[in-house]
Amino acid sequence: MIQLNTFLTGALVCQTGSNMATIESILRENRIFPPANEFVRHANITGMKTYEALRQEAERDYAGFWAKLAKQYITWHKPFTRILDDTNPPFYKWFDDGELNISWNCLDRHLTTQANKTAIIFESDEGEVIRCSYRELHQRVCRFANGLKALGIRQGDRIVIYMPMRIEAVVAMQACARIGVIHSVVFGGFSAKSVYERIIDAGASAVITADEQTRGGKRHALKATVDEALAMGDTTSVHSVIVFRHTGTDIPWQPERDRWWHNLTASQSDECEPIWVNAEHPLFTLYTSGSTGKPKGVQHSSAGYLLGAIVSMQWVFDYHSEDIFWCTADVGWVTGHSYVTYGPLAIGATQVIFEGTPTYPHAGRFWEIIQKHRVTTFYTAPTAIRSLIKLGPDLPEKYDLSSLRLLGSVGEPINPEAWMWYYTVIGQSRCPVVDTWWQTETGSHMIAPIPGAIPAKPGSCTLPLPGIDAAVVDETGLPAEQGKGGFLVIKRPFPSMLRTLWNDPERFRNTYFPADIAGGHYYLAGDSAHRDQDGYFWIMGRIDDVLNVSGHRLGTMEIESALVAHPLVAEAAVVGKPHEIRGEVIVAFVVLRGKLPDDQQAAEIAETLREWVSSEIGAIARPEEIRFGENLPKTRSGKLMRRLLRSLARGETITQDISTLENPVILEQFSQTI
Ligand code: PRX
Repeated sequence: MIQLNTFLTGALVCQTGSNMATIESILRENRIFPPANEFVRHANITGMKTYEALRQEAERDYAGFWAKLAKQYITWHKPFTRILDDTNPPFYKWFDDGELNISWNCLDRHLTTQANKTAIIFESDEGEVIRCSYRELHQRVCRFANGLKALGIRQGDRIVIYMPMRIEAVVAMQACARIGVIHSVVFGGFSAKSVYERIIDAGASAVITADEQTRGGKRHALKATVDEALAMGDTTSVHSVIVFRHTGTDIPWQPERDRWWHNLTASQSDECEPIWVNAEHPLFTLYTSGSTGKPKGVQHSSAGYLLGAIVSMQWVFDYHSEDIFWCTADVGWVTGHSYVTYGPLAIGATQVIFEGTPTYPHAGRFWEIIQKHRVTTFYTAPTAIRSLIKLGPDLPEKYDLSSLRLLGSVGEPINPEAWMWYYTVIGQSRCPVVDTWWQTETGSHMIAPIPGAIPAKPGSCTLPLPGIDAAVVDETGLPAEQGKGGFLVIKRPFPSMLRTLWNDPERFRNTYFPADIAGGHYYLAGDSAHRDQDGYFWIMGRIDDVLNVSGHRLGTMEIESALVAHPLVAEAAVVGKPHEIRGEVIVAFVVLRGKLPDDQQAAEIAETLREWVSSEIGAIARPEEIRFGENLPKTRSGKLMRRLLRSLARGETITQDISTLENPVILEQFSQTI
């Protein structure tokens, strides 16, 4: 049973403790930025009245509203007649007697109208630019899909994709979609162990990878990591490893299992008849962190997911056919799925895909790319914005950013100061900023301003999209009072929501539809939020033990499990600590086997453990600080005092009741930063 009460209290305490400066400024935040007239003149949806009318339309006939959009934006092989099947909640189905193919919707349907339009402008880490038209992309996807079929891969199989951020990653995903194969992309920064766990959970029959990836001038092994992952246990389900040659480095080779991408596709046809799948056919699974040690395999549908991606491209990104869209997310995250691989292609956009990092080989790289490719719509994470703010306003001023017309933010709360900088320095007070709240589980934007309609307030993701019944409720499921924190929920099933957790329907139900809230009928997002007098949503942070480090989700339990797996460690607890640029960083409290180390030993062991966590999970999970003590602070009943640890991590005065602590000296020990 989920302790909602504890969660909520924890969240609010954590929030006021953690992001004090941000929250205070959010509470004081009363600036409003209506969309500029010039923007409104050309916007797809203009004015609050139009927004309200759409919301009311959804209110009057919820299923009809979504059905209309599904007919308008998706090309169906077999039209649906049923809309929402809610007979077996929370396992909802949408459009479930319809048939379609996602890759056909992203590629083939543009061939008659805009085959020569550039689909992707790819820029490599080193600055090489490759343009790929819709026709070329279609051919590449078809050849690769035929290659997969030649390896015996069939509809319903699962494939793990572990690729650099290049056109081939999109080709691999689209090729899977073309033949009804369920892909599971693993972010290239994750460790061999993470790759192994995902292969096992998905029961993958193949892995698609590259020799290496390059980012920020550095090379990172991918194929060698896949080899390591496949050697970790029984991975006999994997019969093929397909390797894209990127850097050309020497790699170990198992001839019976490994296939070069170029050989596999060399003699394949440019045409590949798509497999028409049911609307509910799983398009992909994507693993994300939750409040237990085991990542969750979020499973998305085909039609409903695609609809969310397209509608949000249209509404939130105000898509116009001449746009140059650039989402900086890696395809290893949901943002890269919805706003690189699927949304922009399904709507027929030209998009930039960038392999590198914001500051390599120089600190103006992002702005240079915007200038060079005349980017109109730029979508990135607050952590990137904050790190670029640090470099000063004169840097972006050196570039011509006049092509920009819309800016977006995703992944974590954007503090009002960062929002203002983004708006004034990058958007030159001309471009609306869309702060988009959503999750791996929701598939596409849920709460975000429709830029030609909704005035923005810095730090608020504003109002729910039409057809999204978002609310803030208390632990009984009743609406929270205005200004008061509560659980962020979505009260009705929506097309792009996850369908289940791969192999774990019970965890799906318990995590997202806990019976305690409104009888299990609401989707519980896992965030706390409050609404202001205008009904605007302000996201306050997670209510579970999930951290948000540089916009990436990490479970505290995951990191704790990794730490205790090290032979030197007896016990470990992990909390987040606010960080100016990265949002949050990880602080680990560790009890070693044996006695407390002296300062020099402590520094060495801390470094060993940081490396260990990197190799167990990935570099993004590397603890910033590791502190050692003789035992962890627990209540009399043995419950870990996480709030106390959070206060210690932040160097705050301890106000909690510590009378139950058996060994108060640990407070002193855990105050030492290594
Ligand atoms: O806590 C919220 C935060 O990121 C979580 C979802 O993480 P993930 O599934 O990795 O997806 C990230 C990309 C969509 C949410 O539960 N979050 C995401 N967007 C925002 C946000 N917090 C505040 N404002 C946002 N715009």
